[in-house]
Amino acid sequence: MGSAASSAAAAALSFAIAAKWPYIGLAMPKAPLAPYPALRLRRLRQADWIRRLVREATLTPADFIWAAVIHEGDGVVPVPSMPGVERLSVREAAAAARQARALGIPAIAVFPHIDGAKKDAAGSIAADPDGLVCRAVQAMKEAAPEVGVMCDVALDPFTTHGHDGIVEGGRILNDATVERLVEQGLAQARAGCDILAPSDMMDGRVGALRGALEGAGLQDVMIMSYAAKYASAFYGPYREAIGSGTLGSGPIENPGDKKTYQMDPANTDEALREVALDIAEGADMVMVKPGLPYLDIVRRVVEAFAMPTFAFQVSGEYAMLMAAAKNGWLDEERAILESLTAFKRAGCAGVITYFARVAARMLG
Ligand code: PBG
Repeated sequence: MGSAASSAAAAALSFAIAAKWPYIGLAMPKAPLAPYPALRLRRLRQADWIRRLVREATLTPADFIWAAVIHEGDGVVPVPSMPGVERLSVREAAAAARQARALGIPAIAVFPHIDGAKKDAAGSIAADPDGLVCRAVQAMKEAAPEVGVMCDVALDPFTTHGHDGIVEGGRILNDATVERLVEQGLAQARAGCDILAPSDMMDGRVGALRGALEGAGLQDVMIMSYAAKYASAFYGPYREAIGSGTLGSGPIENPGDKKTYQMDPANTDEALREVALDIAEGADMVMVKPGLPYLDIVRRVVEAFAMPTFAFQVSGEYAMLMAAAKNGWLDEERAILESLTAFKRAGCAGVITYFARVAARMLG
């Protein structure tokens, strides 16, 4: 075929491809695609240097919030269902903050394992200014003030039944719980916590927290709301990590789950309503949780609100990946970095992850 004929054919084919772009809603190249063989997409994959040059999403330690479990005792205690994760003492938490600084990890989120004897049905010690969380926050900010500290605002580590709220007559009380969450959040903020992360899914808690922070002269404290948090099976290992209740004890509606306050995994428009409300109430950043199974939600939230959006790669995601890696079924390092890159590709500003330290080391 002569070159004129082949370029005419090329133009026709190129038009045909453009006209029939079949991926409705997905980005189409701005210019018409040249047809094969003029277009060979493998050209830009042939060597590492060119792959790096055209890469769309990049992963750095600055993308991580390190999820860390803390406990009241000394030293570290391994969490069996999360190989590589250990409960840290207050002293170890301070050391972790220094490690985060050295590795370029911007922030650490702490999740407390509380002695069973200190818990009650109302989670009374959640707002204790001398409690484990506040002591750890102080120690971490003292050890490495340049590292941000984030705290969960929720009652579940402190309640015997493991629910995030106050239970009465078999129901989770919304407004009474919000009052307790405000006390808890204020105690954390006064201890030096930089980011309050309400994870309880009560209605109105972001506005209540924001108002209380303003009233207390703590207007610079940030709020990252667990805005779209689903009633997920993937939190299982976390309950072991923090020694949380079974959810089965006591006369509670839907005793074994959190479906009356966390979202139905089948819903997506509802996630946008949750996010819109939290932004309106004063959240600075929003979060989607769990992570990988919910990247469609992340994408919708990023596109709808253009707010700093985070995802939580939760305990079950960590456990799945590590279990397969320990069996030799997955390449551990590659799977970790690929999973974290997926969050960036989906549009996340960052990821809350138990892999933060190992991943930062791999990237370093
Ligand atoms: C508690 C809370 C949970 C997680 C973070 N904060 C568990 C839950 O809501 O039941 C899950 C973290 C994880 O699985 O890694 N409100």
